[in-house]
Amino acid sequence: MKTSLSEFIANLPKAELHLHIEGSLEPEMMFALAKRNSVKIPFTTIDEVRAAYNFRDLKSFLDLYFAGTAVLQTETDFYELTKAYVEKAITDNIRHSELFFDPQTHTDRGVPISAVFAGIARALREARSSDGFSSKMIMCFLRHLSEEDAFETLQAALPLRADHTDLWCGVGLDSSEFGNPPKKFSKVFDMARELGFRIVAHAGEEGPPEYIWEALEILKVERVDHGIKCETDERLVKYLAEHRIPLTVCPLSNLKLCVVKKIEEHNLVRLLRSGLCITINSDDPPYFGGYINDNFIAVASAFNLTGEDLVDLARNSFRSSFADDEQKMKWLQEIDEYADNRAID
Ligand code: ADE
Ligand code: ZN
Repeated sequence: MKTSLSEFIANLPKAELHLHIEGSLEPEMMFALAKRNSVKIPFTTIDEVRAAYNFRDLKSFLDLYFAGTAVLQTETDFYELTKAYVEKAITDNIRHSELFFDPQTHTDRGVPISAVFAGIARALREARSSDGFSSKMIMCFLRHLSEEDAFETLQAALPLRADHTDLWCGVGLDSSEFGNPPKKFSKVFDMARELGFRIVAHAGEEGPPEYIWEALEILKVERVDHGIKCETDERLVKYLAEHRIPLTVCPLSNLKLCVVKKIEEHNLVRLLRSGLCITINSDDPPYFGGYINDNFIAVASAFNLTGEDLVDLARNSFRSSFADDEQKMKWLQEIDEYADNRAID
């Protein structure tokens, strides 16, 4: 069957491995929750919010991102936020998603950490039973805060682990990168690894290749979130290729945060051709102008990617996930069938 590029992408089964659930807050929901919870936000219209999506760098985005999260107060808010993302993910043919969440963003405002876990988990479990949608939760530490703060967060979250073993599988690191190297969190990640959590970290989004090395060698990450600043270090690129360490790349995010000037200048296709395990993800979709399929379309159009390239990227997303092997095989078979039956017109 012949299909258009956008149909090919839309129907392609895929996994999303880099999505901040707080960053999926659409302006409409921001207003609705602000009203419901009587929270003041610095905007009077939805157009005003969208006009503010104009960033110079990661820091300028994070300022708005943290301001937006103030409307999230209750278990129901986290449930509705997650439900809205999952509904969109299902229409985009995402079969499996690994969601980042930042409890410190909320506990610092007095929201109980249990409400954050419970609201996200309720929506994910409902989607699993109603639509077979598979998911995991990855708790991220905010790197602009101290390691002690991260320890406190891990300690506060551990009593919730038993009730979330079906979902909470990993620990990550996000927020402003410059000046907050992975090594700042070496001890808390040692502890998380000893407790059996899967480990990821944002590194090389804006920061230097040394931060990627630290994420690999000190935190012992299994995947690098972004990682695109690896390219100036030949030995690092070789290492990432040889060990097939996945990079969860977010092209429209990199564009919006001025890490690249034009999508045509993005290095992900070059890295893919150099043998790296590249995956495509949306990061914080409303803020960056697109969900996962929009990211695929932007890259496919800019680089004239073939159906095989796109299938390769989707395969990478399943292989790099923290789902079990039996489930991964099923998805990979589904992709094989898809690839056998479709071609881009
Ligand atoms: N938190 C939400 N989005 C992020 C990003 N792109 N980088 C670091 N921290 C984030
Ligand atoms: Zn991110």
